[in-house]
Amino acid sequence: MSKSTVEEIRARFDADVERFSNLDTGQVTAIDSPLGMELCAELAVESIGNHPGAILDLGCGAGNYTLRFLQRLNAAGRPAPRSISLNDLSLPMLKRAEVRLREAGYEGEIELLHHDLREIQIAAGQFDVIMAASVLHHLRTDAEWDATFADLYRWLRPGGGLYVYDLVSFTDPVTQAIMDRRYAEYLESINGPAFRDHVLAYIAKEDTPRTVTWQLERLRAAGFTQTDVIHANGPFAVYSARRS
Ligand SMILES: C[S@@+](CC[C@H](N)C(=O)[O-])C[C@H]1O[C@@H](n2cnc3c(N)ncnc32)[C@H](O)[C@@H]1O
Repeated sequence: MSKSTVEEIRARFDADVERFSNLDTGQVTAIDSPLGMELCAELAVESIGNHPGAILDLGCGAGNYTLRFLQRLNAAGRPAPRSISLNDLSLPMLKRAEVRLREAGYEGEIELLHHDLREIQIAAGQFDVIMAASVLHHLRTDAEWDATFADLYRWLRPGGGLYVYDLVSFTDPVTQAIMDRRYAEYLESINGPAFRDHVLAYIAKEDTPRTVTWQLERLRAAGFTQTDVIHANGPFAVYSARRS
């Protein structure tokens, strides 16, 4: 099957902003989505510490991850980031994320990066935290993954952290088949067989996930020294990588 083009992916997300605008449910088609947000936010808050740093949310959608991060930062009594860079292919997503951040009381600088993440131009050492939720699985070739991981490493300041929640694959075909079945059951339990088939069809057309082990190996090859699997449930995982 030929995979979706960038334009097809953009068009689908342009029309799907509402589904990514609920902080309580997160993305209901993704297992443990609210937990993924919590874990990334909690780890990111600890890594940014007490200084008003700069954060980047790649494939930010309607801003759920950054909003959760700001809530946790505020609850911990830490200063708000001096700047938040939001990246997404979809302009309606970016606009919604910006509005939601302002409605949440964020008064710092917001930078909108309306690009394919493979084409962002950012100076080195800009960010304390990078979050990337449910977006890296759109990368296709090994070279694209390696180039992206090299960019993420370069964009982080030393000590900065990358926090990822994503759909992943498995090296063992038996494990892959079991995880596929469990995910199909999960989708069916949410909204029945037609919904399950709809979601599985667009995932098959649109997504090219990689195993967590492969991603962590490539992150280490890109220079990251601390890489951890934080959580995994079925074909969804949270992992982190720190630049020392
Ligand atoms: C599944 S949504 C996740 C949104 C958000 N991170 C969240 O978890 O709520 C994926 C987002 O990534 C964006 N996206 C997909 N491919 C992208 C790319 N190559 N570069 C930048 N954004 C991309 C889509 O437009 C969409 O808003």
